[in-house]
Amino acid sequence: MVDQIPTLSELRTRPVAQQPLYADPAAVDAVLAELRLRPPLVFAGECDELKRRVAEVAAGRSFLLQGGDCAETFGSVTAGDIRGKLRVLLSMAVVLTYAAQVPVLKVGRIAGQYAKPRSKDTETRDGITLPSYRGDAVNGLEFVEAARRPDPHRLIEVYNHSAATLNLLRAFVTGGFADLRAVHTWNRDFVRNSDVEERYEQMTSEIERALAFMVACGVDNESLRTVDFYASHEALLLDYEHALTRIDSRTGTPYDTSAHMVWIGERTRQLDGAHVEFFRHIRNPIGIKIGPSATAEDVVELVERLDPDHEPGRLTIITRMGAGRIRSLLPPIVAAVEATGRKVAWVCDPMHGNTFETSLGYKTRAFSQVVDEVNGFFDVHEQLGTWPGGVHIELTGDDVTECVGGVGELAEADLANRYETACDPRMNRDQSLELAFVVAERLTSGRILRPNPVQEFQPEDF
Ligand code: TRP
Ligand code: MN
Repeated sequence: MVDQIPTLSELRTRPVAQQPLYADPAAVDAVLAELRLRPPLVFAGECDELKRRVAEVAAGRSFLLQGGDCAETFGSVTAGDIRGKLRVLLSMAVVLTYAAQVPVLKVGRIAGQYAKPRSKDTETRDGITLPSYRGDAVNGLEFVEAARRPDPHRLIEVYNHSAATLNLLRAFVTGGFADLRAVHTWNRDFVRNSDVEERYEQMTSEIERALAFMVACGVDNESLRTVDFYASHEALLLDYEHALTRIDSRTGTPYDTSAHMVWIGERTRQLDGAHVEFFRHIRNPIGIKIGPSATAEDVVELVERLDPDHEPGRLTIITRMGAGRIRSLLPPIVAAVEATGRKVAWVCDPMHGNTFETSLGYKTRAFSQVVDEVNGFFDVHEQLGTWPGGVHIELTGDDVTECVGGVGELAEADLANRYETACDPRMNRDQSLELAFVVAERLTSGRILRPNPVQEFQPEDF
């Protein structure tokens, strides 16, 4: 176990990708000094609890649902927006819980997802070249010099907006909003009011009957009314993540208290890079995003570096291969990691490998391809006998028009109606819920090995 956190300057002796270039280093230092005094956003004990639950996912006894915006923006930190995202995630979770028959671990891509890796440092429009938008944590989206200049004070705003978001989420999930019966009512209305296929209607009535059965049995306790919900984001900006890393007084070990779970991005996972070095030291459960360029050897080297102690729940590997490639690229990676003896949570991100640009210049994703990648993910795990541990989705609670297809049969020409994302195209509420039904169908297909809590319950236990 590695107990001390390297200083920022120690980290920066390594290659460090995707960081903003600030004009005034003294202003950055002042901001970081202030952040170091702020209270942690999460408690290290919560991170440990999440790690224990990720271990359950890795063991095939739970399913992970991780989702939220591609990029949160300060402007979207409103009650309505937060409520909308939580509502979609809970809606999906009910369907998945029923289908998987195991607890669904709910993790938002929320309360900190403000920084974006970019493929180019600059963007040129009509002969004018400005720094690329790197997320509200760094600069503004508007294509003018003043907005695009990286501003370190935005890091304080990230902290403040994350705190406000977490505060409301914590209130919602314990304050009655997450009541299973209420969430089911939203789902029933969705199924009624849209043209989803009949088999989804059938699943909804089955859930309704299951709920009615529980109520008739007198089951009525806290667990029906509340959920545990965790926050996660890509830990991209080392300045910010480092400033929020604290030594936990219970264990004497460092935790990145900016979120319960943080992940390392496809573009910053260089073995000798500063990000891997940072992640090595924090004790949070961590995610690793893996794209099509990763070889099985790359992934094995990464997991050995990031999880030398084979700690249960430490690693979630989030793959984003693209619908066309997942069936060939994923198997050797899963086989190689399993061969190291580690149990990791295998999670499918069916979004990032399936982005394309329409003729009108909109960056979009096709619902059918998202579904295809999810199906490929399940196919691979079925063949290997491993547990398809979860999905990682970019979504919003609004009726935006950013991805094509789905029950509303959104066409490329419709994208102009409500294309609001600050970064990648997100699935809207209906598309997200429909995807949950697709996943649910795979989970109930019976070909997947999973523990059956009822069959395993022996009357002799008394
Ligand atoms: N507490 C349980 C759980 O988190 C059941 C539950 C209550 C639930 N409200 C929910 C499940 C909303 C999904 C969505 O699984
Ligand atoms: Mn994205």
